[in-house]
Amino acid sequence: MSVIRQGTIAACVLLLGVATASASDIASFEVVDGTIPQPLTDVAGDPVAGKQAVVDRKLGNCLACHTAADLANEPFHGEVGPPLDGVADRWDEATLRMIVVNPKMVYDGTIMPAFHRVEGLNLVMDKFAGKPILTAQQVEDVVAYLKTLSE
Ligand code: HEC
Repeated sequence: MSVIRQGTIAACVLLLGVATASASDIASFEVVDGTIPQPLTDVAGDPVAGKQAVVDRKLGNCLACHTAADLANEPFHGEVGPPLDGVADRWDEATLRMIVVNPKMVYDGTIMPAFHRVEGLNLVMDKFAGKPILTAQQVEDVVAYLKTLSE
């Protein structure tokens, strides 16, 4: 009897631990009309760090699909997505944040990955399971960088 109880408690503690670990990696945010008006963190995004995350193949790897004049010196440009030149004119900050966090909310059925979301994802490599590709602060940095891309 007590053996079973201990086992059950251990299992519960384990489950709780797993749930807490993945939930804490994802910032809580509110979606308003398909946008995220509030920043995910209290620290203002840094456009220089954002550009690094956009270029870094292990982070944003945005260049796999996008080009931009500002990124012309970087290798590996894909053309699956539209050039990022002028995105700051096309979208406000709240929508840019939504596109980076989960572009499916803006483009139904897009192949662009959700960079700050873990539930409901398939095709995620084991080492990324339960972890967003970009941290909340990296999302803010990338959004700050995208805001510099006006024409
Ligand atoms: C696998 C390819 C892929 C990757 C990787 C990718 N995107 Fe995209 N992105 C797209 C596609 C495709 C679209 C156009 C939406 C559509 O029609 O599906 C898009 C659209 C966008 C838009 C809106 C563009 C516009 O002209 O209005 C922004 C902003 C954007 N992506 C930013 C990013 C950023 C920042 C990253 C990296 C953190 C990134 N994308 C990574 C494929 C990608």
